[in-house]
Amino acid sequence: MNLSDSIANPSPKLELLQNLIASDNLGSWRTGNITSDQLLLGLPGACVDELDNAVAKTGENELPDISDKTNFKHCHSLVQELVSRLESPALGAVIVDGLPAERYSELDNRKLCGAFSSLVGKLMEQNKQGVTLYDVKNKNPADPSKVRKSITNLAQPFHTDGGWHRKPAKYVGLYCIRNAQNGGGSKITSILTAFETMLKEHPEHVHTLLENHPWDMQGEHAEHETGVLLNPVFEAHEGQFMSRYYDSYIRGGYKLSDKPVPKELDAALLCLADVINGQPNIKFEMSSGQFQYLNNWTVLHAREAFDDTETTPETQTRHVIRVWNH
Ligand SMILES: [Fe+2]
Repeated sequence: MNLSDSIANPSPKLELLQNLIASDNLGSWRTGNITSDQLLLGLPGACVDELDNAVAKTGENELPDISDKTNFKHCHSLVQELVSRLESPALGAVIVDGLPAERYSELDNRKLCGAFSSLVGKLMEQNKQGVTLYDVKNKNPADPSKVRKSITNLAQPFHTDGGWHRKPAKYVGLYCIRNAQNGGGSKITSILTAFETMLKEHPEHVHTLLENHPWDMQGEHAEHETGVLLNPVFEAHEGQFMSRYYDSYIRGGYKLSDKPVPKELDAALLCLADVINGQPNIKFEMSSGQFQYLNNWTVLHAREAFDDTETTPETQTRHVIRVWNH
C-alpha cells in the first residue's frame, strides 16, 4: 500500500507518521504469522552465573550493579539482542526465558529483576511514591472498579502502560515470579498495524486521534494538579512512532474534566477498538522465571482475569514485577 495515497492532503503531523511506518516491515504482524515461540530468548547459563554472583554479593537493601561490561559481558550481550528485537517493528516483544525465579527468595528475585532491567534502560518511577519495581499482584481491594487494575485480579483490555505520561515508558518489562493457578494469560498485538488499518480503511477517524485529549492520570498527580494530562493517541517523538492507547483512560480524562467525550473521538475510539481486537495477536501464559519485555510505543498488551482471592495461599498467588524503562 502506498500510505501517502490513503489520505488526501495529510497534515504535517500525519505525513510524519505515515513516513515513519511506510518503510517498516510489519509482515508477521499483518499476516498473523507470529507465535509466542518466536518471542523466546533463552538465558544462557553464563548469564545465570553472572546474575547469581551479583545477587549473592549485595546486601538487603542494595540492588546489584551489573553495569560492568567485562564481568557481566554475557548479560550485556543478551540485553543488546533483547533491545534490537524490541526495536524491530516486525516483533517489538521478547520473552526472556530461564531466570532462576523458583530457587530465589522474594528479595533475591527483586534484586535479579532490578539488576537485569537496569541494563535495558534507566528505570522509570511508576507512581508518586517513586516505585521502580512495581508488584503486580491482587491485593483484594474492597472495590476493584475504583483502583488501578494492576492490584486486582480483573482482566485488562489492550493498552499502553502509563499512557497519561507525556513520554510513556519506551519499554515495559514483566518479570514473572509466579503465574496464577487459573487465568492471568497474556496477549499482545501491534498498534502499528492498527494505525495502518485506520489509515487505509477508516481515514475519517484518524485526525482526532492525532489531537490532544485529556488522559486520566490514575491519581498519580500532585495535589495542585487536575489529574489529567493532554496527549494524542498517535504522535512522532524524536523521529520515532510513539503511540499511547487505553480507551477508558481517555474517556476517564474527559469525565475528570467535566466534559463530554466529543462525538468524533467516541466514534474514532470505537473504531480503533474494533480494529485492535480484530487483528492478529499472540496469546501466551507466562511462567516462573520468564521476563516479558515489550516496546510500549508500538505493541499493546492485555491480560486475562485470574482466580486469586483472599483465601488463595500466598505461595500460589500470581506475582509479577513490572518495570518501566526510558
Ligand atoms: Fe499493563
